[in-house]
Amino acid sequence: MTTQTVPQQTAPSTKKPPFYIDRNEERELRMRAERLQPSLVVDQAASFDEYVRQLMIPPTVMDLARKAANLRLASWEVQAIRSLLAPGWGAAAPLLRSILVRKAEEDDTHPPYIRVACTGKGLYDDWAEPYGFDETKQANFGSPAVLEIWPAQHYSPMHSHGDTTGIIHCLAGQLDVMCYEKLDWNATKRGLVTLTPGQCAWLSKKQYAVHKVFCPLDGGEQPTALLNDTGDFGASFHVYLNETETTGEEPVPAVLSRDSFSYIDERTHELKEFTTYSDLSWPALRAAMTHVASAG
Ligand SMILES: [Fe+2]
Repeated sequence: MTTQTVPQQTAPSTKKPPFYIDRNEERELRMRAERLQPSLVVDQAASFDEYVRQLMIPPTVMDLARKAANLRLASWEVQAIRSLLAPGWGAAAPLLRSILVRKAEEDDTHPPYIRVACTGKGLYDDWAEPYGFDETKQANFGSPAVLEIWPAQHYSPMHSHGDTTGIIHCLAGQLDVMCYEKLDWNATKRGLVTLTPGQCAWLSKKQYAVHKVFCPLDGGEQPTALLNDTGDFGASFHVYLNETETTGEEPVPAVLSRDSFSYIDERTHELKEFTTYSDLSWPALRAAMTHVASAG
């Protein structure tokens, strides 16, 4: 008697960027995130178990989260950012889309996102001058508080916030945060959470310092590898305190601080350093938002 070998069907890989996981792994990582101790998401406990998970979140983080709790983007601000992100090319592209196009040209390893310094200045502030912004160039680049704008389907590389303590407070849309055990392409994934407006994740030197952020919203009908085809976005408010800023003591230079972070290159999987900067300052973005809102 002969046995026939049944040809194995090779299923197409479902492991795509940004997290390279299939649906079963995603389900498992979401459940794992709900068991993380302390809780990755700052929340009001509704059970004794959850209370204990919240209890172990460091006081500095709780203070940052409490101060950010009422921050939201108004609907007109969301609409204005959507208009400024809307697809358009060349001279017709609005401010935020122009910045995305430039960033995609300069770094083709992942789809870009936009950093807005709440204090300080941005690299492309002069691009907001046609929107009525008067650039003074007086401020510094460094800012402990940053508004990040995540176009739908765009994501960060895996990166570490080093020795800083901080929060990621969702302001608009939706954001997926994947936490890793260490900064290594093959690092074990600790858990996956989706933040909606008002929800806050956190990190410190010892906990959750390595992550990847992704906006899971609809990327439009004709996205390319680096740029989506829609104005949809998620937005988050980030605060990063250097180690010396969490104690109230005199600041001393920190080896690892918010001025730079380490990341894993999405293409080569090598460890690299990135000096942080902001694309825009909040006054420049606000001027552009006001301009498009008043233009109707
Ligand atoms: Fe981050």
